[in-house]
Amino acid sequence: MKRHSRVFPAWFIPVIVLAVLSGCGSKDKDGGAAPSAAASVSLPAAASPGGPGATATRTVAPVLSGPEAKDIHSYAEPDIARVSNVDLDLTAHFDSRTLQGTATLDVLSGVREPTLTLDTRDLNITAVTDDKGQALPWHLATPDPVMGSALRIQLGAARRVRITYSSSPGAQALQWLTPAQTAGGKQPYLFSQGEADLNRSWLPTQDSPGIRQTWAATIRAPEALTVVMSAARLGEPKKLKDGLREWRYGMEHPVAPYLIAIAIGDLAFQSLGERTGVYTEPSGLKVAADELADIEKMVAAAESIYGPYRWGRYDVLVMPPSFPFGGMENPRLTFATPTIIAGDRSLVSLVAHELAHSWSGNLVTNATWADFWLNEGFTVYFENRIMERVYGADAAAMQADLGWDSLQQEIRELGGPRAPDTRLHLDLTGRNPDDGMTSIPYEKGATFLRTIEAAVGRERWDAWLRDYFDRHAFQPQTSTGFLDDLREHLIKDDAALEKRLKLDTWVFEPGLPANAVHVKSTAFAKIDARAAAFARSGIAAADVQSWSSPERVRFLNRLPRKLGPAQLKTLAAAMDLDAQRNSEVRFAWLELAIANRYEPAVPNLEDFLMKMGRRKFVLPLFKDLVAQGEWGRALARRIYPAARPGYHSVTTSRVDPVVPLAAAKSQ
Ligand code: BES
Ligand code: ZN
Repeated sequence: MKRHSRVFPAWFIPVIVLAVLSGCGSKDKDGGAAPSAAASVSLPAAASPGGPGATATRTVAPVLSGPEAKDIHSYAEPDIARVSNVDLDLTAHFDSRTLQGTATLDVLSGVREPTLTLDTRDLNITAVTDDKGQALPWHLATPDPVMGSALRIQLGAARRVRITYSSSPGAQALQWLTPAQTAGGKQPYLFSQGEADLNRSWLPTQDSPGIRQTWAATIRAPEALTVVMSAARLGEPKKLKDGLREWRYGMEHPVAPYLIAIAIGDLAFQSLGERTGVYTEPSGLKVAADELADIEKMVAAAESIYGPYRWGRYDVLVMPPSFPFGGMENPRLTFATPTIIAGDRSLVSLVAHELAHSWSGNLVTNATWADFWLNEGFTVYFENRIMERVYGADAAAMQADLGWDSLQQEIRELGGPRAPDTRLHLDLTGRNPDDGMTSIPYEKGATFLRTIEAAVGRERWDAWLRDYFDRHAFQPQTSTGFLDDLREHLIKDDAALEKRLKLDTWVFEPGLPANAVHVKSTAFAKIDARAAAFARSGIAAADVQSWSSPERVRFLNRLPRKLGPAQLKTLAAAMDLDAQRNSEVRFAWLELAIANRYEPAVPNLEDFLMKMGRRKFVLPLFKDLVAQGEWGRALARRIYPAARPGYHSVTTSRVDPVVPLAAAKSQ
């Protein structure tokens, strides 16, 4: 059996001893000792998130070695020197759109005079010293368009370095919003989006998901604004002289650096339960709190399935409309699109998804972006289990069945079942990690886990998965590591089961293996029949009135792609499509309308594209337009320049190549 190994440089030895002595070491198959969980080390107090004072215990997570754990999207060389803790001290300058200050890094190394290699992008670095202020030699490499610039620092005997820097106004992870781009219209707003490799544009560290780091931050911002981060707030904000307030946050668990997140704005908070709550701009707080009322129940449901929630609080920050994703699982503080506010709680599965990442993704994390499915596939699976527990089996089956549809569609769009990007374990050589962000890691990943569940039975599967999260808590993981664990602890020596599951085919081969389990929603049978009969018998408002949002989405997606204007008019009237607040339904409608060059839907389309920047909607809609000849291209050329200033770089970087291309081709 192929086993991956871990990096155990000299500094790790006392940690192993500590771990074994304290009883948390485990014997591996070969009889050697391997740390089964992140170990604890005592570190000097000044380095602790708590700041100067008492001695603190900080956890150091192992870094995996072996070729499948090598992160090609980071310059870091963790076996020479690795960052274990980051302490930021930054001021947010809204006028110059910069974060400016210092990052102090704690470094572990078994080498006598190591070179520390960090990831950066577009940072303006002015000084690098040790913690006593002694200058250290450093060099910033020429930038690579995908990876950024390696920052190499000769540490000598130093194991703590301080980098003085500022981010650039165009920093990829950051979006600086003008007051006009917020709901309140009076205060500016800043937020970060770190995943996958964007955080290097505002903090110099080893930006690799396999190199977990504890962190803390002192942030100064205009006193009218609230600073929130993906960590625990330490103490109350301090008022400073020059119209600023200073906030301190700390994350005691080692996390992948893409999970360090910040938002600064005119924010209000409402509690939703004992350990849950919602932040957003004051004007939207009441509706957001109502929409998200079930969060506390979801946390309890998740815990009852896969064990304790280990992060303390779980809050949701409802973002401004430009937020490029549906949600981002920043620890303790999910960032969520405002399109989640449908008015009828019909999109809360998105919160179930981000919450599920508190286990799959944040606790056990893909070591490299090639294994992104370990984050997202597990999470889609777990999200569905939470939905089942809170809203029942029918609701869960509808979600899963829609997932199956999007998987089929994605396989077609990627070029069919032999296309390399339909593999779970991706080859991202020479590519942006973002290129792997298709429905494959999400839906093929979840389908894989459902297939294993069906084969071994839910009870055995759940017991294994719960233990798996415990065994690998706060550690990176690879596909190989997952398969090893599954074989060792679930399949054991059951050769027939091993054969039936086709594990390696699932992970390393393209397409969908023949044993894939398709969860079918029985409720969809009548919807599909209705869609098939639409051309003949049309549809009336009374038919659709009782349909849930997933049923509406399914219906729209199952309609013939080519419809005439009269049919579209009937449809729009029966389903009140131009007044839909559920963004999934609205999106399904707009795709259908564009496919038929249906002019009356254009104001709705334009409104949607102007008012939110979620890439999942924006990118396909522009692609759809461009595919519609001059009719669509003219619309794209008109709408995109107007909407673009409101989009985050994550969205524009993918839409830019689509729209100008259309302009060029149509000329
Ligand atoms: N972690 C992802 C978002 C992400 C992925 C950001 C890759 C950057 C790079 C998040 O958990 C996610 O999957 N969001 C989905 C929501 C969903 C599947 C319910 C989204 O944004 O659409
Ligand atoms: Zn996710």
